[in-house]
Amino acid sequence: MLMPELSIADDGFRLDGRPFRIISGSLHYFRIHPEQWADRLHKARLMGLNTVDVYVPWNLHQPHRDGPLVLDEGLDLPRFLDLAAAEGLCVLLRPGPYICAEWEAGGLPAWLLVDPDVRLRTSDPRYQKPVEQFFELLLPHIRPRLATAGGPVVAVQVENEYGASGLRDRAHLDHLVTLLRSGGVDVPLFTSDQARDLADGGIPGVLRTVNFGRGAGEHLRTLREHQPRGPLMCGEFWAGWFDRWGGGHKTRRDEEVRDTLDEILAAGASVNIYMFHGGTNFGFTNGANDKGHYRPTVTSYDYDAPLDEAGDPTGKYRLFRETIARYADVPEEPVPSAGAKLTLRGIRLPERASLLAQAGALGGPTRRAERPLSMEELGQAFGFVLYETELPAAGDGVLCFGEVRDRAQVLVDGQPVGTLERENREQAIGLRSPAAGARLTVLVENQGRVNYGAGLRDGKGLVGPVTFNEQPLSDWTSTPLPLDALGALSFSSAAAGTGPVFHRGTFEVAAPADTFLHLPGWTKGNVWVNGFALGRYWSRGPQHSLYVPGPVLRAGANEIVVLELHGTRAGVVDFRDAPDLGPAE
Ligand code: GLA
Repeated sequence: MLMPELSIADDGFRLDGRPFRIISGSLHYFRIHPEQWADRLHKARLMGLNTVDVYVPWNLHQPHRDGPLVLDEGLDLPRFLDLAAAEGLCVLLRPGPYICAEWEAGGLPAWLLVDPDVRLRTSDPRYQKPVEQFFELLLPHIRPRLATAGGPVVAVQVENEYGASGLRDRAHLDHLVTLLRSGGVDVPLFTSDQARDLADGGIPGVLRTVNFGRGAGEHLRTLREHQPRGPLMCGEFWAGWFDRWGGGHKTRRDEEVRDTLDEILAAGASVNIYMFHGGTNFGFTNGANDKGHYRPTVTSYDYDAPLDEAGDPTGKYRLFRETIARYADVPEEPVPSAGAKLTLRGIRLPERASLLAQAGALGGPTRRAERPLSMEELGQAFGFVLYETELPAAGDGVLCFGEVRDRAQVLVDGQPVGTLERENREQAIGLRSPAAGARLTVLVENQGRVNYGAGLRDGKGLVGPVTFNEQPLSDWTSTPLPLDALGALSFSSAAAGTGPVFHRGTFEVAAPADTFLHLPGWTKGNVWVNGFALGRYWSRGPQHSLYVPGPVLRAGANEIVVLELHGTRAGVVDFRDAPDLGPAE
């Protein structure tokens, strides 16, 4: 389908010259199993959306500084855009390169942090150069999909809520505009900011949009003050919210957000609902917030959105559809019903593999240095780092860390001693060294890099000196454990010791369908089903189940691997037909 072009007039948008209102919703292809993209896009159109809004995660697309761009499977952005076009949807593309989004480091690649001085999101050439390279790799895939070339991408966002960064580097914003324009992006550009940041985030000659969750009238008026002419648009209407470990499950009342949507549409404004469908922070991809206190985001990005994490329409979906229908044509097809769900209870995981015993085979290469090396120095983006050295003497003592980023499990001669969490500002632990030369092991988890605010530069691993009874510990080994492939693990039914253990089991599926993995009596860790990384679980909650997309399963035998960092009561899991995201707050 040849898609029409968007233009900006004094009194609103035009699509191929005719007045047009953007009714959009956000969904992130990188948070959805690729075999479900078409389904989610279809349901977007059925709710009455004419547009979808999509971020691009630089960190996944360019895992290494010198490229190439990864565009396969779940990262096949060209395919996603083509599916949107096939559904007749326009696309607002937000290529960042900083995207926030509760996504690891707001999408900035970990390798950017190797240079201790790079000033992120500024005109610092150490930041600009890699951004140029990224856009050079990315834009050739976007150009043929711009509306001006017959594709679905009608507009492109510059940066993301730059006004909130406090950085005020106009040259940085100008540089991004120049890169997009010289890279052939000839559709309208826009910025999005919260109302209080509109002055700092805007770029002369670029359309401004305003982000909010409530108070539509007031925020749209503020936008009008900053932009006397042109379309009014809410760039992110927050219809739900995200959760953090240890907090409650955030929801927003259906009727309340319906009324705000109505207010936006009644004002004649365009809108982008954030999120239309949130999806999942699979693997290690969640971000964290740090407003003086490090708070990692959970695995589910359900967001209390109109389409839930499993792609089923909620009460909000129905209310939004009715509301949109009062202002625009909505397809006549009925609201899709919920998809089939699979239930399988009492799956045993009888095989085990000790993480510490098999770390050498699993990760690496191990590097030796006077001090513990950071995850970034090890060339690693996600996962864990295993640090080891020897304790100098026998006896009681206090082990002190400069900083733990973000969670350290301490073991002496293979026996767990305790855990330190950055979230709790823990930096010291008492322990007994059995002998001079006792083995000190510190397994450090990257719980997700900060994606918003001043703490964006969030290097991982052990930072600063480590001391035992005030004596610096030296001669460390640092072993990267990215856990991006588990094929080297060898499992057996023998006991695997008291440290972190991989548990493996198999189960039969007759007809693959979506399901939710519940881990009663398990403590904390990560799960893979048929090699697909479902994400992190934690008894701390609020989330107590993990979404398993149907396409991950197959008819016949399936494999589940759980890395349990502490211990499990019974070593049994359930696949159930409903999630447990915790009590609503
Ligand atoms: C801002 C950002 C988004 C997201 C939301 C909160 O609006 O632009 O990327 O982080 O906040 O979910």
